[in-house]
Amino acid sequence: MLDVDAVRAQFPILSREVNGKPLTYLDNGASAQKPQVVLDTIQRAYGEDYANVHRGLHTLSTISTENYEKVRGTVARFLGAPSEEHIVFTSGTTEGINLVSYGWAASRMQAGDEIVLSIMEHHANIVPWHFLRERLGVKLVWVDTAPDGSLDPQAVLDAMTERTKLVAITHLSNVLGTIVDVRSICDGARERGVPVLVDGSQGAVHLPVNVAEIGCDFYAITGHKLYGPSASGAIYIRPERMAEMVPFMGGGDMIREVTRDTVSYNDPPMKFEAGTPGIVQTIGLGAALEWMMDLGVENIAAHEARLRDYAQDRLTGLNWLNVQGNAPGKAAIFSFTLDGAAHAHDISTVLDKKGVAVRAGHHCAEPLMRHLGVSATCRASFAAYNTEAEVDTLVDALELCHDLFA
Ligand code: ALA
Repeated sequence: MLDVDAVRAQFPILSREVNGKPLTYLDNGASAQKPQVVLDTIQRAYGEDYANVHRGLHTLSTISTENYEKVRGTVARFLGAPSEEHIVFTSGTTEGINLVSYGWAASRMQAGDEIVLSIMEHHANIVPWHFLRERLGVKLVWVDTAPDGSLDPQAVLDAMTERTKLVAITHLSNVLGTIVDVRSICDGARERGVPVLVDGSQGAVHLPVNVAEIGCDFYAITGHKLYGPSASGAIYIRPERMAEMVPFMGGGDMIREVTRDTVSYNDPPMKFEAGTPGIVQTIGLGAALEWMMDLGVENIAAHEARLRDYAQDRLTGLNWLNVQGNAPGKAAIFSFTLDGAAHAHDISTVLDKKGVAVRAGHHCAEPLMRHLGVSATCRASFAAYNTEAEVDTLVDALELCHDLFA
């Protein structure tokens, strides 16, 4: 069981006040706070060990390269990938999915081919496929959620036709908290010979992930949601898919030889990592993932499941609060609107006055918002360091909103 006080003590920002109130940080779906070990690692990487990677033979460059490259193994361990060679570093899930769109899908799809998506996708797992729709005439096939926000894996498989070339699906909805049975989807897609990309931007934060067990072809993660630095991330790519990919960005590091008339490429994964990368960000990501694994990803998930149960109980007690999505076993992410005219932005402003940070808006998921029939919601999203007392603070602040706006 997680010792939440000990966890909180590792996050300096959690002891600050906002608007004269103790900070209640419930915007973890947008970005998580960073433990001291990540801050120290960043400080050391810049302050003691910094140089460019893969380029110099001098001592600092060698140290920096070692610190950077060892994160590949950390990510592979975190994701249950068979080898670090299957891990490409990115700036986050958005870059990872764009890499798949440009580097794998664009050269393998043509007009009329289909990509199956759920209606819960984040724009990062929609817009790169819209590019292919606009440029190649690829068709996007949407699978809706049930009224409780759950997604039937069979409905995803039923949406596939002989023209389906890819299923691109979230592991965990950033709006509803719905957990998708990606393993069943991968099993069914594999029988049909169709690759599956999993957007793990939220899933890897809240669930133990093992890509070998899931059976996906691509699994993309975002460092800043995983208690690591912004502009860090990675994508697991199944070796068969990697062999089919062409580079997305050209530049230093990803080449073997460049002449006036020819170019040849480095071996994967570096073939897909052009230019000086986010060196310190990636080293910080490594520290964050080690921190999560030391704490125990299962322990974090169990703690968040308790918070979910408590928050669900308290929030459903507010009969003027409309919580979107109640799928069985969902994650501790709650999107809601209030009866009456209060806009999500107004609610979030009042909560902020009480020191409670939530996100308000469409959450980069406009197709889902239309499907739900709302233009915006407030979202409280929980992390390893949140407490039941913070759920109470949220509820008290919501009651104040209700008094103000009802
Ligand atoms: N994807 C992030 C969110 O859900 C930004 O808020």
